[in-house]
Amino acid sequence: MLQLSGLGCTDACHTGSAGAVSPWGEGGFLCCYHFSANACLAPICSLHHVAVTTVEGIGSTKSRLHPVQERIAKSHGSQCGFCTPGIVMSMYTLLRNQPEPTMEEIEDAFQGNLCRCTGYRPILQGFRTFARDGGCCGGSGENLNCCLNQKEDHTVTLSPSLFNPEEFMPLDPTQEPIFPPELLVGDADALGRGPATSGCHEARETLVKHTSGDLCALALWVFLSSSDTGGQAPVSHTPKGTHTSRIHMSVGGNIITASPISDLNPVFMASGAKLTIVSTGTRRTVRMDHTFFPAYRKTLLAPEEILLSIEIPYSREGEYFSAFKQTSRRDDIAKVTSGMRVLFNPGTVQVKELALCYGGMADRTISALKTTQRQISHFWNEGLLQDVCAGLAEELSLAPDAPGGMVEFRRTLTLSFFFKFYLTVLQKLGKENSEDQCGKLDPTHASATLLFQKDPPANVQLFQEVPKGQSEEDMVGRSLPHLAAAMQASGEAVYCDDIPRYENELSLRLVTSTQAHAKIKSIDTSEAQKVPGFVCFISADDVPGSNITGICNDEMVFAKDEVTCVGHIIGAVVTDTREHAQRAAQAVKITYEDLPAIITIEDAIKSNSFYEPELKIEKGNLTNGFSEADNIVSGTGAQCNLGEWVGPGLGRGRGLLRNHSPFRQVGFMKTGRVVALQVEHYSNAGNSMDLSQHVSRMHPCILGVVNGKSKAGPTSIGLLTSCLIFVFFSRENCWKKRGLSIIPTKFGISFSNPFLNQGGALIHVYTDGSVLLTHGGTEMGQGLHTKMVQQASSPVASVSAAHLHVTSGKSSPLSASVSSSEACQTILKRLEPFKKKNPSGSWEDWVMAAYLDAVSLSATGFYKTPNLGYSFETNSGNAFHYFSYGVACSEVEIDCLTGDHKVRIWDWVQAVGSESLTALQVEGAFVQGLGLFTLEELHYSPEGSLHTRGPSTYKIPAFGSIPSVFRVSLLRDCPNKKAIYASKAVGEPPLFLAASIFFAIKDAIHAARAGNMDHKMKKLFQLDSPATQEKIRNACVDKFTRLV
Ligand SMILES: Cc1cc2nc3c(=O)[nH]c(=O)nc-3n(C[C@H](O)[C@H](O)[C@H](O)COP(=O)(O)OP(=O)(O)OC[C@H]3O[C@@H](n4cnc5c(N)ncnc54)[C@H](O)[C@@H]3O)c2cc1C
Ligand code: FES
Repeated sequence: MLQLSGLGCTDACHTGSAGAVSPWGEGGFLCCYHFSANACLAPICSLHHVAVTTVEGIGSTKSRLHPVQERIAKSHGSQCGFCTPGIVMSMYTLLRNQPEPTMEEIEDAFQGNLCRCTGYRPILQGFRTFARDGGCCGGSGENLNCCLNQKEDHTVTLSPSLFNPEEFMPLDPTQEPIFPPELLVGDADALGRGPATSGCHEARETLVKHTSGDLCALALWVFLSSSDTGGQAPVSHTPKGTHTSRIHMSVGGNIITASPISDLNPVFMASGAKLTIVSTGTRRTVRMDHTFFPAYRKTLLAPEEILLSIEIPYSREGEYFSAFKQTSRRDDIAKVTSGMRVLFNPGTVQVKELALCYGGMADRTISALKTTQRQISHFWNEGLLQDVCAGLAEELSLAPDAPGGMVEFRRTLTLSFFFKFYLTVLQKLGKENSEDQCGKLDPTHASATLLFQKDPPANVQLFQEVPKGQSEEDMVGRSLPHLAAAMQASGEAVYCDDIPRYENELSLRLVTSTQAHAKIKSIDTSEAQKVPGFVCFISADDVPGSNITGICNDEMVFAKDEVTCVGHIIGAVVTDTREHAQRAAQAVKITYEDLPAIITIEDAIKSNSFYEPELKIEKGNLTNGFSEADNIVSGTGAQCNLGEWVGPGLGRGRGLLRNHSPFRQVGFMKTGRVVALQVEHYSNAGNSMDLSQHVSRMHPCILGVVNGKSKAGPTSIGLLTSCLIFVFFSRENCWKKRGLSIIPTKFGISFSNPFLNQGGALIHVYTDGSVLLTHGGTEMGQGLHTKMVQQASSPVASVSAAHLHVTSGKSSPLSASVSSSEACQTILKRLEPFKKKNPSGSWEDWVMAAYLDAVSLSATGFYKTPNLGYSFETNSGNAFHYFSYGVACSEVEIDCLTGDHKVRIWDWVQAVGSESLTALQVEGAFVQGLGLFTLEELHYSPEGSLHTRGPSTYKIPAFGSIPSVFRVSLLRDCPNKKAIYASKAVGEPPLFLAASIFFAIKDAIHAARAGNMDHKMKKLFQLDSPATQEKIRNACVDKFTRLV
């Protein structure tokens, strides 16, 4: 695989799943073309006659940034910058192929890129300036908040954009590097690949597949036997696929890999495709039917055979075909995939052939032969639908422990897909007036046939500009791009993995427990010692002094005698290289004696496994409250129908969010007024306490899983939820429902453990005028250093921003800011006499004068958040320094048949005090919240091993996950007296506000269930966060879910 030494090629998951974090652009052959790709997926041999361009090759901070690099940096599209080079190269490649792309093309170009910080919207908004249909909502001006519609407000100026596009360098395609002529080859095929690169890809099919939610639309470059041409001819080609992993993967490889979740194989199988297979001196044709994949990852091909071509038959009159794919995320691999085909006897709706082929339902691609064969000669009507569904439910069963899990969901999907196919065919037949012989399409069912696609994003962030008259020099409150953004966009930023190796540098690799709870009986390193370059193995016995660590002194540097979670660190091997360390670590043999393990919260409650002390907050007199109540209802969240008694608001709001089980009993009056509420709250606190007690204030359960700090916020938000139902939409659409939810948040800022709320800063001013500020905060992409520069350059601190260099430690941003500001002021006081003496002098003059006068220009600052300390015993004192306020409203739509959802509109207002640097964080936090509440699910084995460990199994939101309308208003006119420059922290509050999406989904599910209500279904139901497709589909109980 391609390993590039440039800093822009960041090291990531090595599977191509984490997005184009290892990017490169490429030129091509006679008809020169460009594409981006993941270095980890690109074999070196694929680079024959190819020119590789890395992110460093298109621009630099030292010479000139490329417009793509400039725009992502200035539009706040880079925070930690880890993803930035990949995103830059995807955009660069698109522009090389299409200098004036549409917004849709821009969005498509990023399928395969992931970003954890920015929330994607700033990136899309910055790159929208390249789009021919730009404007914040695609140029239509239909969006009320569209930048085209902004009117000046005389009191405050609301700006729709954090940057001024007029300042951007224009894109000039004529200035791009030309493809090196010496690499051009004459004999390139239409695909642009020369013969030397073909290898076993001799068949030269290429596939560009465009996946959209549940439907996989295919555009193939295939070779068809065509009586018209008398030979082979390419029939269609869609050149817009830029998904990095698609570029290097061939259709032949996809077929021969025989993946049970291949997108294409069910499609080929259902279509009756014929494969031409060659070997030395032999050539044969086989039909891809149910016999083609005899076993897991096996095909009928002999080892020496090569797949030469695929022949897909033309569709005939009376023949209909659909393909379906269900993914966790739009650009993801399938959970279930399907190809479906029906052929009717001429002029009738009587089935002649029916093929229903599935991936994800067995260890290979399968065809539901039993079910389909008995439909021959049947009419396409309700009777057939019912019979096929009953047949599929029986034929496509999965064992409860089937690999991939989600058994009920996957089985339901097979029926849902067929139902969609049935309706689609019915709709088409209806248009051809066959309604007499087949069923008639109920118009309320028609929406089930539509693609569940997200509209292109039309997003806007409104923030309040600085007051008129604020000095140009004063950066506070201005939307200053991240200080390191340009370096990140040009690949110059140095990350740990980029630091060159030192001579004699050694590598260390941890050896961790494979058991959740066990005694360590022995550690055998003899095999590890045989690995070349082995230096030593270190464990608890090698720790000088105390082996105890952790904020609560309940952890060990290395486990001694006993392990308490899978992944518990037992020791480490030290070797000469990274690769040797990996091998040596694997060779260390540990024998265990298993002890009982507690994996789930339910286990912990049963075993009374809690950290002490148990924390309690009591307000009022609970005993009196219950004795006065007209009714008392008890139970867990799952058992009780609280909402039916006390009204929908509270009932719907009590969904369980991430391991929390909040309800015990409620007392209420006949009017519905709640007079007493007892809530028990449990959280997964992992195998060590860490900060769990301080952040969760509940029963932190001791579990045999790696420490996971819990968050209290989501559940309290849940209790505040207010939901409305989209009555009209729901009535008219049987299988699509909409939901709405509004959530306010009042989020406490500061650590409730007082000693954590402190910070120091150190300033040195050097004789050339440069300033080194070292502060206690952690710059992790959120822009803390940028904030420091803003503050240091304000009139209060007035240190020249141009001279400032910042380094950091690990305390909170507020402590870092205040302590830095204090240090700045000390320096300024010392410089004051020199400024007075020479008022027209420069910064450098005053600094030099102070030096010559032997005045120290080093100073420290220190800050401690005052008046903190809450007591659970007395229920008194301050847990927080101040509160951050915001409110969000979400409108979602769900596809009841597949469990897909899309966030149609997300409106959010957040009070950010009086500075706007926070713009960098708020949207990223929201998108993380979107992941937390709808996508990011941890799966543990019953033995406590985490299955979801990387981007291929743990899904974070991608570009396509963000709301279609995403309106963010940052209100600055609400100063906060308790923080520096009247600012407010806004990291976590927006993360919690994304819970409005969860509750909007729940609202939509209510509507779905209301439409399918029968005597067996309860009106109220439990939906645990995250609201994944599986949970949404399973909660939308209907005739299909009842069959499986
Ligand atoms: C990040 C990522 C995302 C993915 N997402 C999807 C997805 O959404 N849907 C999906 O279906 N798949 C997905 N895949 C799987 C992917 O489609 C296959 O891995 C790919 O198609 C294999 O093609 P290749 O050209 O890389 O084959 P190779 O890896 O080069 O070959 C695979 C095997 O097939 C053999 N082979 C290749 N061509 C021929 C031939 N013509 N004749 C005989 N043998 C041959 C090779 O010898 C080898 O044994 C994904 C893979 C990755 C890494
Ligand atoms: S991952 Fe995109 S900026 Fe951090």
